[in-house]
Amino acid sequence: MPGKTIALGCDHGGFKLKSVLKEALEKKGYTVLDVGANSGASVDYPDFGHAVAKLIEEGKATRGVIVCGTGIGISLAANRHPAVRAAVCTSGLMARLARAHNDANVLALGGRIIGVETALDCLEEFLNTPFEGGRHAARVEKI
Ligand code: RB5
Repeated sequence: MPGKTIALGCDHGGFKLKSVLKEALEKKGYTVLDVGANSGASVDYPDFGHAVAKLIEEGKATRGVIVCGTGIGISLAANRHPAVRAAVCTSGLMARLARAHNDANVLALGGRIIGVETALDCLEEFLNTPFEGGRHAARVEKI
């Protein structure tokens, strides 16, 4: 994918999974901008969804990965930013289609919903699947 800087954020419900994803991204050679949280202590997911979205808005990261307990709350916050298309995914197929059809630029995962292997599948598809464009481009434009 063009641009190798990924913004990464989570709340306490996503902290463990975020640590795994961070290591995987760094191993793949990505630069990771980790906005926290940095422990399993209770925090508010919107703070981290907004922080990742801001890095994308400012052009400091090309893509983002966000994790909370379900992936839902943190994606709702990130999606308030017009530059962001965050997709909650629970399978590699969803992540592939979120890229191919929706040009999602933020992957949202639920640390209490999916296991590590599925999360890594989602990450792989999110990073490596190009947007198909064509008929999908006009639809994405309408968002
Ligand atoms: C935190 O307990 C939990 O509500 C949060 O991680 C997330 O699942 C919200 O959507």
